[in-house]
Amino acid sequence: MRTKLAAGNWKMNGLTQALSELSGMEEAAKGASEVLICPPFTLVGAAANAAKGIAIGGQDCHAESSGAHTGDVSAAMLKDCGATHVIVGHSERRTDHDERDEDVRAKCAAAWNAGLVVVLCVGESLDEREASNTLDIIGGQLAKSVPDGATGHNLVIAYEPIWAIGTGKVPTTDQIGEVHDFMRARLEKRFGEGVGRSVRLLYGGSVKPSNAAEIFAVSNVDGALVGGASLKAADFVPIIDALN
Ligand code: G3P
Repeated sequence: MRTKLAAGNWKMNGLTQALSELSGMEEAAKGASEVLICPPFTLVGAAANAAKGIAIGGQDCHAESSGAHTGDVSAAMLKDCGATHVIVGHSERRTDHDERDEDVRAKCAAAWNAGLVVVLCVGESLDEREASNTLDIIGGQLAKSVPDGATGHNLVIAYEPIWAIGTGKVPTTDQIGEVHDFMRARLEKRFGEGVGRSVRLLYGGSVKPSNAAEIFAVSNVDGALVGGASLKAADFVPIIDALN
């Protein structure tokens, strides 16, 4: 049985005041599902201290554990200030920072070395979907971005179609189901049925209180990675409740 996961990615949003939203999520986080919030780096330590029953993660990490990399943060640093998870390979990192599958793979391995759970993102562009290349793209990203050594404990995959992020556009439930079933099959083939069946698969892209229940009913959807609607408890709590 996979524990459902409601994950929030605050992206580059949130000053100290935003931490007050965490207390509004605590009651919902007592349900059966796990709740994870990934605030910006500046709030990770404070969030980890403040959050009760909510896991805290980073949004990225460097592939090396220390060194001359101005402005970067290592997985060990995240762990040191209380993070238990880290997102790697988000499409905004892949685009804004030119991160390739091999970079994502190295970051994932570094995060595992530091003892963090990785939420690894994959997803196709609109052009790729319209050219009917979605499964090829997702299969390639999974093969190249995920290192050997995945388990149901150290890896979560988030399927985030780039065209659905922050746009209000959401794939049909059939489209989500097709990708999630495909990812499950690929993971089972590569890592064996036990591991393949235990890795949680999240959907991300314009998840809102109004569409969460419908998305969570799709086969092989084990939760969501939520951007905008995770910033306020008033929006995120109904999403957590839909999963519980
Ligand atoms: O990582 C979450 C994300 O990219 C989805 O963002 O705002 O469409 O929920 P949003």
